[in-house]
Amino acid sequence: MTKVFINGEFIDQSEAKVSYEDRGYVFGDGIYEYIRAYDGKLFTVTEHFERFLRSAAEIQLDLGYTVEELIDVVRELLKVNQIKNGGIYIQATRGVAPRNHSFPTPDVKPVIMAFAKSYDRPFEDLENGINAATVEDIRWLRCDIKSLNLLGNVLAKEYAVKYNTSEAIQHRGDIVTEGASSNVYAIKDGAIYTHPVNNYILNGITRKVIKWISEDEDIPFKEETFTVEFLKNADEVIVSSTSAEVTPVVKIDGEQVGEGTVGPVTRKLQEGFNKYIETRSN
Ligand code: PDD
Repeated sequence: MTKVFINGEFIDQSEAKVSYEDRGYVFGDGIYEYIRAYDGKLFTVTEHFERFLRSAAEIQLDLGYTVEELIDVVRELLKVNQIKNGGIYIQATRGVAPRNHSFPTPDVKPVIMAFAKSYDRPFEDLENGINAATVEDIRWLRCDIKSLNLLGNVLAKEYAVKYNTSEAIQHRGDIVTEGASSNVYAIKDGAIYTHPVNNYILNGITRKVIKWISEDEDIPFKEETFTVEFLKNADEVIVSSTSAEVTPVVKIDGEQVGEGTVGPVTRKLQEGFNKYIETRSN
């Protein structure tokens, strides 16, 4: 029986319920993380929970959990569900209170929920690459917070799907920001370009790993903004996320990227990523 974590307890999926007055449900007033397990171990889990607590602090939400305590929760969740390879979703909302935009007074306890699902690595996409579509970035100006408010991301992803592609690459005006659920990179003349870490993008953990690999491999990693045109003229393009890892993009808006095949820098990053799975999972 699948078990879900809600407020300190592991509950059967069929009985896992939250209130209709939960502020996550009513206002999207909460934050989340998505973490990968490889072979029963958690990948870069400390980085994920440090970001989780940062997101919480940015919305003035005190979770009452340390990084170590959160790690214990998700370890237990994997164990009770006997999951070796898969993903863990964890979210925290400001809690249950009568509907009123301002924070509840007195304070209510946050509602923390987590579930885990088995799935394999995306081998086919990693090998052959994916197609993407560009779309205007209509999201709010705090994309650095991993907030439950994902309507802009949802609409962008749906646009991508409608055009028979797997990811939407968002841009504010001419400037490429990030994917609907990934960070975006253009590789040109052997250097990697990606949007700097600020309020316009999520500071991806996989992005961090890619930065480590580029340092190991002496590949220039340029945190600079670039245009949609630059992206389309790149030699190679990739998107990265906890679930997509280092996924090549071989077509954008129906046009081939470079030779339309997976390039050498991408392959090097993928090899480096496999090594980090070995060394950064525990
Ligand atoms: N999303 N940017 C956005 C908007 C994202 O939603 C994600 C990940 C990323 C990449 O972050 P990371 O490398 O830390 O996974 C960037 C997750 C996977 C999700 O929403 O399920």
